[in-house]
Amino acid sequence: MWHASEQSIHPLPQASPFSPQSPDPRSTEEPPCRPMQMGEDTGTQQSNKSHTRPPTLFVIFGAQGDLTKRKLIPALYNLAASRHLPQEFAILGVDGVDMSQEDFRTKINQDLHDLSTQSIDPAIKAWLLDRLYYLSGDFRDPQTYERLHTLLNQLDGQHGTRGNFLFYLATAPAFFGEIVDQLGAQQLVIQTDEHSRRVVIEKPFGHDLESARSLNHTLRNILHENQIYRIDHYLGKETVQNILVFRFANGIFEPIWNRQYIDHVQITVAESLGVEHRGLYYEKAGAVRDMLTNHLLQILAFVSMEPPNTFDPEAVRNEKAKVLRAIEPMNPVDVLQATVAGQYGAGTIDHRSVIPYRSEANVNPASLTETYAAMTLGIESWRWEGVPFYVRTGKRLNRRVTEVVIQFKSAPLMLFRKTPVDRLTPNVLVIRIQPDEGISLSFGAKIPGPKVQVGAVNMDFQYAEYFGDAPSTGYETLLHDVMAGDATLFQRSDAVELGWSIVDPILKVWGSLGAHGIYPYAAGSWGPAEADALLAKDGRQWRNYSS
Ligand code: BG6
Repeated sequence: MWHASEQSIHPLPQASPFSPQSPDPRSTEEPPCRPMQMGEDTGTQQSNKSHTRPPTLFVIFGAQGDLTKRKLIPALYNLAASRHLPQEFAILGVDGVDMSQEDFRTKINQDLHDLSTQSIDPAIKAWLLDRLYYLSGDFRDPQTYERLHTLLNQLDGQHGTRGNFLFYLATAPAFFGEIVDQLGAQQLVIQTDEHSRRVVIEKPFGHDLESARSLNHTLRNILHENQIYRIDHYLGKETVQNILVFRFANGIFEPIWNRQYIDHVQITVAESLGVEHRGLYYEKAGAVRDMLTNHLLQILAFVSMEPPNTFDPEAVRNEKAKVLRAIEPMNPVDVLQATVAGQYGAGTIDHRSVIPYRSEANVNPASLTETYAAMTLGIESWRWEGVPFYVRTGKRLNRRVTEVVIQFKSAPLMLFRKTPVDRLTPNVLVIRIQPDEGISLSFGAKIPGPKVQVGAVNMDFQYAEYFGDAPSTGYETLLHDVMAGDATLFQRSDAVELGWSIVDPILKVWGSLGAHGIYPYAAGSWGPAEADALLAKDGRQWRNYSS
């Protein structure tokens, strides 16, 4: 067990740990929503120097959707409860569904009770609902935006939000460009020194490199890059952010974080869920577009990037882009040798029989969409030359687990030649991102007794044990950071395009192989046998668990 002195262990604030000026939430006795003082920063700067609670009018396009009710509203509630929202704050939901403001408040009230990650404090809920408004209108109709303009001016005056408008696009991707165009036509996204105008874009950001470029182009016609916040909710996870803290705040790991000491890296994002009710979307996406091009590559970038010279957003994002650019591009032969696509069949998960992917709702019975992807990626750099990064993700796998495994090179065996030790297990560092968040390091120790026998033992740190279970949707830090103008945890246009340029050639080859390019696996397993073979041919194996 790793121990730290009492003085050095504190619960992390929900605000980004990368903002040196984030106020420590434990050091204030203020009510949840302290009024801002005159002269405080309006948050227009694209740096983490901005105040972390500037007045904000939070506009949600897609206010009737799943994301709003499951994540955004509960996250805003958590931020209010943890005193991270300003007093001058209001939410305006926009959606096509015709509904009165009162009915919308009633609906959100109910959603909050159903989906909140913590018990509801009536005073905080009332505070939030009092600031909640609704506008119904078609996203394609210019009149919607005229009415929006009028309403924003009115609410801005009423709530003292000082013209700081945050537009969150929680809509189908087809609307992203249209909404930004219309906001531009109404001059609602002109940012000045006095007020901020920011736009948050959900995933998926494009469908391939070409469409991502074209969307970036559309956005950049209207917005500056520093107004665009491309969200990847994996970067909102404390444990993903902790990869950077773990690497760069501890002197002992960085010197061995390279090809001299590391044998290989595994990144696994396994889900036991199937496609649920999202067959329509998933059929067009598949595991690579849905998970690998964004979440897995973001984790990979955090694990492999060079230390930035500061935690300034641009410094961090420059290093991430550099390492993504260094990922070796694959030609068709590489794709055949270094990647595996799979699709789940029937099987059993948690003692429950589950249906095959092709029988899910809204899925083509002859579908060739991959629900599993595994690949070996190489990074052409001084630090990583020759170190394989094995990444995999899939639905309906044996269990839900996201983790990074760093396997170190084995110690030389000659010392143990004359002893009964036939195999020394290499040191393995496991960063468990979810569930059961924590970090463990395994090493060899002498098993007590007259003979020299070595066994693998673990040092294990568990988040919940040290920091408790903070109520979180995973969106709190990200929403907080957009309001504060800190883009460190958001994707810049180059990173998004680099992600697509890595996977596009792979998807093209898979597409051309048709049914030959996709291997079946039983639901509840760890994926197709071919993915095991991918590592076996390098003399390695995936770290799996039995259920
Ligand atoms: C989303 C994907 O981005 O991430 C889903 O679209 C997936 O298919 C989800 O289930 C996983 O997120 P988490 O936070 O539950 O690991």
